[in-house]
Amino acid sequence: MTQKTILITGAARGIGLATAKLMLSRGWQVAMLDRDVDELAIASEGLAGAVPFICDVSIAEQVEATIPAILQKFDQLDAVVNNAGVAEFGPIEETDFAMWRRVMETNLDGVFLVSQAVVPALKKTRGAIVNIASISGLRASTLRVAYGTSKAAVIQLTKQQAAELGEYGIRANCVCPGPVRTKLAMAVHSQDIIDAYHDAIPLNRYGSETEIGEVIAFLCSEQASYVTGQVIASDGGFESTGVGLPALRK
Ligand SMILES: NC(=O)c1ccc[n+]([C@@H]2O[C@H](COP(=O)([O-])OP(=O)(O)OC[C@H]3O[C@@H](n4cnc5c(N)ncnc54)[C@H](O)[C@@H]3O)[C@@H](O)[C@H]2O)c1
Repeated sequence: MTQKTILITGAARGIGLATAKLMLSRGWQVAMLDRDVDELAIASEGLAGAVPFICDVSIAEQVEATIPAILQKFDQLDAVVNNAGVAEFGPIEETDFAMWRRVMETNLDGVFLVSQAVVPALKKTRGAIVNIASISGLRASTLRVAYGTSKAAVIQLTKQQAAELGEYGIRANCVCPGPVRTKLAMAVHSQDIIDAYHDAIPLNRYGSETEIGEVIAFLCSEQASYVTGQVIASDGGFESTGVGLPALRK
């Protein structure tokens, strides 16, 4: 049996790196894509079966050049995880257009560009796309006009992909993580915010990178062969508790 290959964007750290390690442990080859040259070199060093690719997913020319390089290295692509993301928070009146665009160009444009570029390869393997959105794409909050809107758009983009690519056997699903202690989250989560999250989440804690990776791995696997167009929150129950106020607990 030929070894399967997965492309993971934003694989230099956090959820992407944990997912890369998980897939390697399950016998997959991993194309680790990131725009952070130094961190990607450190992260991929010594990972047998992983190959790093430097690319900024928000720049069309870089995506157009990188996907053929990945296919030249691995011959085939069985799954793609659009995980690269940035978080910038601010009130609506202080979110200037440059900030809005920075968030949209990675979180939304990047998912569109990478997914579009891999469609021919995924048609050949009847492969899978997993897009990483966020609890912020399911529930609105203050300060997330750009981030939350970009993630809600990723949820809809996933459904568009599932609707259109299903006839080629390509599945597209979306994972919405709750808070995870990565560099991205810790840059915008103060101790007050961490405590409030613990209160509001039924499981009373943040998730781990690997817990999110497990859901991604399932959606990439044969076990999920009849699952497409789905949005799965891996969030400790956060999304399901609209009126689950901490004050209403015993
Ligand atoms: N950590 C959380 O609490 C949380 C919650 C919900 C959703 N998410 C989502 O999970 C995904 C991974 O986040 P994380 O917490 O692991 O973040 P992280 O900052 O630890 O890792 C993100 C990686 O993406 C890379 N990246 C960013 N922009 C890129 C670009 N344009 N091109 C290529 N690489 C790029 C970064 O260099 C970094 O290595 C993101 O899409 C994020 O929005 C995270």
